[in-house]
Amino acid sequence: MIGLARLVGGARTKFNRMLHFPATEKNKGPILEVLKKALPQDREGLALEVASGSGSHVTHFAPHFPRLTWLPTEIEDRNLQSISAFIQHTKVTNVKEPVILDVTTDPRGWGGGLGEGSLTVILNANMIHISPWDTAVGLFAGANYLLKSGGYLFIYGPFAIHGSLTPESNVKFDQYLKSQDCRWGVRDIDDLEKLAQTNRLKLHQMVDMPANNKILIFVKES
Ligand SMILES: C[S@@+](CC[C@H](N)C(=O)[O-])C[C@H]1O[C@@H](n2cnc3c(N)ncnc32)[C@H](O)[C@@H]1O
Repeated sequence: MIGLARLVGGARTKFNRMLHFPATEKNKGPILEVLKKALPQDREGLALEVASGSGSHVTHFAPHFPRLTWLPTEIEDRNLQSISAFIQHTKVTNVKEPVILDVTTDPRGWGGGLGEGSLTVILNANMIHISPWDTAVGLFAGANYLLKSGGYLFIYGPFAIHGSLTPESNVKFDQYLKSQDCRWGVRDIDDLEKLAQTNRLKLHQMVDMPANNKILIFVKES
């Protein structure tokens, strides 16, 4: 009995590392629907998630794409622990243990050296506006080097369109972000398209999402 109590206590401690972000729990369903439409379920290869946060997204999406192997990444240690706990808790079989990644670093070193053109998908949610512009630059540089021809880069979040940010709640959110850190702020798709052009990517689709967010789908050119 003592052994069992210890085991249960240990397991509980591990699951306690699971973080729960309300926005992530709300948007994971709608994001999955877009992924299912954009990505054929027989698509094979490696899918890298940049800035996985709690790990709730990757463990929710992966079972729907059984032929993809998912590699979650994070810069924060407590998030890395949460992702591992999510993997254990959900028992998903096609999600690897997370690896530490600062997206502003040279993509040749990502994941210990994944290799040029090794990825089918890169997914990133709610990062580029809650961090300096360097993270967007790094994300596109990573997609340039690591995505294979025809591979997808999905970016979820709020965006301004040709200099116009709507509705008022997004304007207020942008002001709030800038008050937290002047390097943060909602990004404009024009600036992201410029980054795409210099990184062999093309904006393929822009999908409206609940709560005034969008998913931008970029495709790697040959
Ligand atoms: C708002 S959270 C979003 C997490 C998750 N994608 C989600 O939607 O729930 C932003 C994430 O960006 C990560 N982040 C910030 N700067 C980063 C960097 N330079 N490299 C990688 N991740 C970074 C943070 O650790 C944090 O988990």
